Amino acid sequence: MAENKKTEILRLLRESGDSISGQDLCRRFGISRTAIWKIMKQLQDEGYEIEAIRNKGYRLVGGPDLLSEADLISRMETTWAGKTIIYMEETDSTNTQCKRLAEAGLPHGTLVTADMQNGGKGRLGRAWLSPKGSSISYTLLLRPQIPPMTAPMLTLVMGLSVVQAISNVYGVDAGIKWPNDAVLNKKKLCGILTEMSVQIDAINYVVIGVGINANQTAFASEISQIATSLKNELGHDINRAELIAECMKTFEKNYQLFVEHQDLSALKDAYEAVLVNRNQPVRVLDPKAPFEGIAEGITAQGDLLVRKADGTLEQVRSGEVSVRGLYSYV
Ligand code: BTN
Repeated sequence: MAENKKTEILRLLRESGDSISGQDLCRRFGISRTAIWKIMKQLQDEGYEIEAIRNKGYRLVGGPDLLSEADLISRMETTWAGKTIIYMEETDSTNTQCKRLAEAGLPHGTLVTADMQNGGKGRLGRAWLSPKGSSISYTLLLRPQIPPMTAPMLTLVMGLSVVQAISNVYGVDAGIKWPNDAVLNKKKLCGILTEMSVQIDAINYVVIGVGINANQTAFASEISQIATSLKNELGHDINRAELIAECMKTFEKNYQLFVEHQDLSALKDAYEAVLVNRNQPVRVLDPKAPFEGIAEGITAQGDLLVRKADGTLEQVRSGEVSVRGLYSYV
């Protein structure tokens, strides 16, 4: 109960941007002035800068960069995505934890976040680094009623949602390197790893894990040429919870369109508008038969359409092969 009040008070202070009197808060939440004062004290202890002015009330001046349940919930503007939140200061992998929670029965839309991962997983069995206090790692649990073969498209839905969220919050044109890496200035900002559990031809659950380079300023030498962070590109720190909440908002909208059509047809135009490979030369790293061509766009199933020099159009299935720009990472 007290936790809910704290979250609601935090939301109110953030949304109002102005002072709110103690009396007003007492009336709204049906609790005493002492109880309000205690909540303010708790928030201050957690790092929120709350100004308390006699005869005026309380005002939120600044806040820490936290991924706590209270901070995230106080920012969520969704109906179901990210309404149940599990936060861990440190974990092996939010995907692994999310799968465990899915087995335990947590609902569709549960969001698992961590301040740091010590065993983060990337695509193709690679490791993913999520340093403490500066990276974004989250995994969203879904229980979609769609055929299992359509589930990989959800990765593209999340990729588009992350790019839209970055553009909405920071006003920059982030793009997508097919199928789902978010990029800014031709460098990778975000990677996505989707895992699924199927039972007798039906999806039991899908977990979509997202790693965003938020406030990191240095990267391991193997990736330093192709990776960047929002801080590096924008020139200032970002608030991680603000971006996660916006990702949930954009994803919830896009997911609705995806489920209605059971494919990407309603999202294809928006996706192609931010596809950095579009009309660019690419190399398709098919282990059996690599080839080059010009990427023209995607199909409603999320396959990349690549025009070869002989004029034929190849359909490249996501998840099966990697694609590189001919002259750089994108
Ligand atoms: C990639 O290789 O591009 C995908 C990286 C996915 C990383 C995220 S971080 C949150 C979630 N937990 C993991 O262990 N992996 C994903």
